[in-house]
Amino acid sequence: MKPARSAAAKRALGLWKQQPRSARVHTTIRWWTAPFEALEAEVPVAGKILEVGCGHGVFTSFLALSSTDRSVVGVDIDAEKIELAQESVRALRPDEATVRFEHRASGDVPTIEGGWDAIVFADVLYLLAPADRTRLLSECVAALAPTGLLIVKEVDTEPRFKARIAQFQEFLATKVLRITDGDALDFPSAIDLERLMKNDGLSTRVTRLDKGYFHPHCVVVGTKPTS
Ligand SMILES: C[S@@+](CC[C@H](N)C(=O)[O-])C[C@H]1O[C@@H](n2cnc3c(N)ncnc32)[C@H](O)[C@@H]1O
Repeated sequence: MKPARSAAAKRALGLWKQQPRSARVHTTIRWWTAPFEALEAEVPVAGKILEVGCGHGVFTSFLALSSTDRSVVGVDIDAEKIELAQESVRALRPDEATVRFEHRASGDVPTIEGGWDAIVFADVLYLLAPADRTRLLSECVAALAPTGLLIVKEVDTEPRFKARIAQFQEFLATKVLRITDGDALDFPSAIDLERLMKNDGLSTRVTRLDKGYFHPHCVVVGTKPTS
């Protein structure tokens, strides 16, 4: 559990001060339990960045606030969360950050000329059935620029006791409280994710981000070849 530390992190969370209480509480808990500052360090400091499954968009806004050389787009299947995300960034000054949000159907990956410099997932792929996850990752690889990065943050399946805490919490969020949308509940390991990304031609590395957290956070970073 870690509070927001950097000025950009505090500003990203501060955007939620005027928002409904439930969303404010959700984004604060999300920040405390997800290693967003370590994950941000994996993302290129400049270029066109897409976050798929951005939810309320607190990490998307943080990416944009951390570097004005980033142009960041967040997409999600949950129209209500996207509306709240759009509302939250209305308070930003134009010179502060370049960020916008779009509601998209599952599997609908936006494409841009030249491709994205990086596509980021933060705790999304466990909500897709294995075949849909494989298809979505392949679409993202196709949407990347040459040498672009696919950055996938999930909770690993090891160590077991940490994985059980995370999996129980996600069961509550999706099946009981219904605060998270998704078609499935299937937790891929870091090894599974690496294998999928390698199959799509990426070179990969895995970094653990779980020091000081109850959940076994990890990130798999894949680099697309030049051609
Ligand atoms: C645990 S939340 C994480 C939100 C955000 N990435 C964050 O780190 O705060 C998972 C999000 O994935 C979204 N999601 C689930 N399936 C998706 C899909 N197929 N495509 C895009 N987003 C999806 C959900 O609507 C939800 O907002």
